[in-house]
Amino acid sequence: MTLHHLILIFHLIAATIWVGGHLLLSICYLPEALKKKDPQIILHFERKFEKLGMSSLFVLICSGIWMAYDFGVSYQTWFSFSGGFEKVISIKLLLLFLTFIFALCAQLYFIPKLNPNNIKNMAFVIISVTTIGVAMLVLGSTLRYGGI
Ligand code: HEM
Repeated sequence: MTLHHLILIFHLIAATIWVGGHLLLSICYLPEALKKKDPQIILHFERKFEKLGMSSLFVLICSGIWMAYDFGVSYQTWFSFSGGFEKVISIKLLLLFLTFIFALCAQLYFIPKLNPNNIKNMAFVIISVTTIGVAMLVLGSTLRYGGI
């Protein structure tokens, strides 16, 4: 097993946690919270998932950037959208940035003000972050075929 392969395994485990956790929240807990108008269901999940979720995102970023460098995609070529590989890495970085913006809005604005009447705003954030996560996963799966 090469070092790249080992790092890819960490990347995949972290992706499983990040995407799996958000799918669970979107498919199981969010509909229940909307139905019962109970924000505590979301807050309880967020509290339990926060540390694991954030650590897995950290692992995704470190391992992803390491593998990108291993493929010769260094920061000088980011966002030049030159080759298929480079395009995927750049889109992944843009989506990562979007995830940070959603996370920041959620922590500073939506979560502190969450109440039974505005769960729909939080639902928008949750569905967006989940969709972005799935998109990152799909984009990642194209890299073994040379990107898009
Ligand atoms: C939510 C965040 C992310 C998810 C869910 C995710 C998911 C994935 C998945 C499922 C693969 C497929 C591996 C395979 O086909 O075997 C992959 C590959 C890859 N990802 Fe990510 N990824 C994320 C973030 C990142 C970031 C931030 C970067 C770097 C900027 C990155 C760089 C890569 C690279 C270079 C590969 C190719 C590895 C290889 O085939 O050897 N990923 N990712």
